[in-house]
Amino acid sequence: MSGDVGQPLTVALGELHVHRLGVGTMSLTGPGVWGEPRDRREAQRVLQRAVELGVDFFDTADSYGPQVAESLLGETLHPNDGIVVATKAGLMRSGPGRWSRNGRPEHLRSSCHASLARLRIEQIDLFQLHAVDPHVPIEESLGALADLRREGVVRHVGVCNVDVEQLLRALAVESVVSVQNRFSLADRSSRGVLDLCAARGLVFVAWAPLAKGTLTFGDALNAVGARHGATAAQISLAWLLAQSPAALPIPGTSSVSHLEENAGALNVSLTSDDLATLDRTAFSMPTRGKAGAARRALRRLVSR
Ligand SMILES: NC(=O)c1ccc[n+]([C@@H]2O[C@H](COP(=O)([O-])OP(=O)(O)OC[C@H]3O[C@@H](n4cnc5c(N)ncnc54)[C@H](OP(=O)(O)O)[C@@H]3O)[C@@H](O)[C@H]2O)c1
Repeated sequence: MSGDVGQPLTVALGELHVHRLGVGTMSLTGPGVWGEPRDRREAQRVLQRAVELGVDFFDTADSYGPQVAESLLGETLHPNDGIVVATKAGLMRSGPGRWSRNGRPEHLRSSCHASLARLRIEQIDLFQLHAVDPHVPIEESLGALADLRREGVVRHVGVCNVDVEQLLRALAVESVVSVQNRFSLADRSSRGVLDLCAARGLVFVAWAPLAKGTLTFGDALNAVGARHGATAAQISLAWLLAQSPAALPIPGTSSVSHLEENAGALNVSLTSDDLATLDRTAFSMPTRGKAGAARRALRRLVSR
């Protein structure tokens, strides 16, 4: 994996070093993050091509499918030499697009053991609490993850979707190495968490770095892209990489060509003028559940 000389190419996740552009596997499931992917062979090719391109950080969760994304990863990339697999527990599924929280220690423990079997590994590199359960203090959920780490089935612990206060509470009970929050040009609300991660030496894993695909086109991104011979998606990811050396975006895709395009973001070096222009531009997240429709509608609009 090559990269612009001005940007650190890797980030430290505990004692592990990973490239700063990972891959998210949520898109490798059926509609509504439920069931098998439409094209299983292509989904496997995405994972294999990612390894060829030098990607060594793969994000997944027991709830993607559910179980589908983890099984696909285990099946396709086993024995996982040289890659870091980050999975999560704490969300349960009852159907397409339906999610509920469960941060109880016994649930997290049984999820961990089921994930180990699906991923075909004996230790999970990074085990993340997917969401804080409003009915379970974060200290209790993190305590379960800390126990799993002490028992050796988990190497490192991370948290997701936390604010600064929750992160500080988590750090008080466990040596958390990463935070995974939504962050992109279209949602910069986790800036404080990102800065805290950088200050404490934690990795900030940015989910939905392409705002579910809506940051892959549009006049402002195309204009900056034209100056660099880069696509809108590459500009969006390059902006994110430039925000902090702690940032690790994990764009998701079900397509090999999009994966290859996204990997090219590491070669884009944005100027301070480019960054200022992008910072001034308003981008918005698609409304919940409408990402695909919004993307298609906007594409139709801009291709007129
Ligand atoms: N911790 C959490 O609570 C949480 C929540 C959500 C997601 N995540 C993680 O974050 C990862 C990424 O987030 P996300 O998948 O929700 O959003 P995203 O990465 O912002 O966007 C993914 C969407 O963008 C499209 N896309 C990707 N590259 C593209 C390109 N070059 N050109 C055009 N379209 C492109 C994909 O469609 P194609 O398939 O057609 O490429 C897909 O629909 C997930 O896979 C998951 O691992 C974590």
